[in-house]
Amino acid sequence: MISVVLPTYNEADNVPIVLARLSDALRGREFEVVVVDDASPDGTATVAERAAENLGIRAVVIRRPGKLGLSSAIMHGIMHARGDVVVVMDADLQHPPEKVPELVEAIFEGADIAVASRYVPGGRVEGWPLYRRLVSRGAVVLSRLLIDKARPVRDPVSGFFALRKDVVRGVDIRPSGSYKVLLDILAKGRYKRVVEVPYVFGHRYRGRSKLGVGTILGFVLQVLKLSGWRPLKFAAVGSTGVAVAMAVLYLAVDRLGIQPLLGGLIAVETSILNNYVLNRHWTFRSDVGFVEGYLKYHAAVALGAVTNYAVYSALVLLGISIYVSYIVGVACGYLANYLMSEAFVFKK
Ligand code: GDD
Ligand code: MN
Repeated sequence: MISVVLPTYNEADNVPIVLARLSDALRGREFEVVVVDDASPDGTATVAERAAENLGIRAVVIRRPGKLGLSSAIMHGIMHARGDVVVVMDADLQHPPEKVPELVEAIFEGADIAVASRYVPGGRVEGWPLYRRLVSRGAVVLSRLLIDKARPVRDPVSGFFALRKDVVRGVDIRPSGSYKVLLDILAKGRYKRVVEVPYVFGHRYRGRSKLGVGTILGFVLQVLKLSGWRPLKFAAVGSTGVAVAMAVLYLAVDRLGIQPLLGGLIAVETSILNNYVLNRHWTFRSDVGFVEGYLKYHAAVALGAVTNYAVYSALVLLGISIYVSYIVGVACGYLANYLMSEAFVFKK
């Protein structure tokens, strides 16, 4: 059986149409709809029950006592779904119900998760202003950079997807805040094959979006949490490395009278060793062989050092202040180092 989970908050005008179009799209298949309503003041829950009755489709309406959030509503719905295949979609018609059979088919053909995607060929967004497009693209880039399991997916922040129930059965997903529950599922679920099906994210039919500017902060926190806070740990280690290098420079050059060029080399090497040890034990908790990892780590941070310097030089040539240029260079070098370390030195 197929279960379609619909989280709702004030969607009374939309939900009867969603149900009618779903019932057409899924005609001839066994399915249920699980509406998870957060005490919508506009009476969405009752409207949904009546609409389902009129259409003669099986619907479970879960009434939660208050607005507890989109991600938790979706997980609540998935846990109560009786189907082996669960579809999650918005109730405002921005996710076309006619795409559902294609998602379900992808699961029947062996995918564990089928993501309706705006960012594969054929997919797109209709009528978003520039700033929403940028925020969405930024969210995708950030997720894919920092959450390794989200990396293969072009639209890992999609709210429209299908999955085999086994992907989350017995897994403690506990949505990490924000409203991008697919990220939690990709990061923690049990699955092998993910496919993406293009779709066009349409206009909201009636009513207003519930997601505001505050959700962006929640999103950044969610991504950091799902990345195990590793990018922040990596940055913290990097700053201890800078402190260590300064101390070594002082000791070697000012106190012991070693040549500045040689002292600089010693400082760099000491900070690399410092960072390597801390990242190995703390940031990545890796069991790579000590020496093997140490050598690889040099290769990994070499790119960062070069990136740092290249960005710095380019910005200085553009007439930007050396301090600003250097800070931007360090940030770019840091990102390059982080990605190389994760992908190449400390990979599981
Ligand atoms: N139960 C419940 N509780 N439902 C909620 C809540 C809540 O706190 N907040 C929102 N919803 C429901 C809405 O009623 C709607 O069906 C769906 O969740 C999406 O909410 P919108 O307010 O329409 O979100 P959006 O259009 O701005 O954002 C969408 O875009 C993202 C892609 O960028 C959402 O579809 C996301 O799911 C999607 O990831
Ligand atoms: Mn919407």
